[in-house]
Amino acid sequence: MINPVPKAELHLHIEGTLEPELALSLAARNGLALPYASADELRAAYEFADLRSFLNLYYRLMEVLRTEDDFADLADAYLERAAAQGVRHAEIFFDPQAHTGRGVPLEAVLGGLGRALTGAAGRHGVTTRLILCFLRDEPVSSALATFEAARPWFGTLITGVGLDSAEVGHPPAAFRAVYDLARDAGLHLVAHAGEEGPPEYVTEALDVLGVQRIDHGIRSMEDPALVARLVREQVPLTVCPLSNVRLRCVERLADHPLPAMLEAGLLVTVNSDDPSYFGGYAGDNFDAVRRELGLGEAELRRLAANSFRASFLPQEDKDAYL
Ligand code: ADE
Ligand code: ZN
Repeated sequence: MINPVPKAELHLHIEGTLEPELALSLAARNGLALPYASADELRAAYEFADLRSFLNLYYRLMEVLRTEDDFADLADAYLERAAAQGVRHAEIFFDPQAHTGRGVPLEAVLGGLGRALTGAAGRHGVTTRLILCFLRDEPVSSALATFEAARPWFGTLITGVGLDSAEVGHPPAAFRAVYDLARDAGLHLVAHAGEEGPPEYVTEALDVLGVQRIDHGIRSMEDPALVARLVREQVPLTVCPLSNVRLRCVERLADHPLPAMLEAGLLVTVNSDDPSYFGGYAGDNFDAVRRELGLGEAELRRLAANSFRASFLPQEDKDAYL
């Protein structure tokens, strides 16, 4: 990747950047045994039938993240790799319930992430935002308790909320109350919808949760009226091409709806989701869509411009990139 195009990464789960080598070294540092003898053996387990089968490994492997230093090392390693792939700005998701639920204090998670993110502009030339995601397959009461526990970091470290984990059977509307509280707290609002779930979940995320961006949203393409609305309102969709193939939302990259989404006039961006598990970071996703979908220089520049336009940067910072 020589001279990767400057871009913003808007759909990135920090826990999904845990590379096998780091997982093994953190396991050793924390005195934990993993059922994999080597990084190659672990990498060989990265074969997924669907979102659920990925999430099973994603949550299991996260158990190596225990201390503030672990979270700082994880995020710092991501930011270094992202910078090398042309990422200038990263809006990063984290899943607090996946850590507090196994006894890791929120202070350790946010202390570590905060340390890495605060130094990122100076160390890596990457500006950052942090978005707290609620696990949609956990009860709403847990999301509400997590939200309240995270209040001390609102507006300083945490600037938005999102919704992730197993989608089908967990429609967005159940989380209305916590999104209302987040709006009142001045936070940005996003949600995963239309990855495996139906287009109706996208409509619900917009109408009931009032989100500003949809994460994934590829199944919106099944509903022409929804596409027309997303185009009219220029709702950003943070699309993750390599993820969609690895989780079998799309059979082959050549079948990905990204070109049709661009053609329709949607405000789409290209992102990496869980790059350690899905075969590549932001620049790798740009390379893959150029190679497999035949996107030209103009379309790649449009995707890069969209990434800044759809970001939560202040307008003057966006203008500097556009
Ligand atoms: N958590 C991490 N990656 C995810 C994805 N692709 N969809 C839903 N939840 C996730
Ligand atoms: Zn995601």
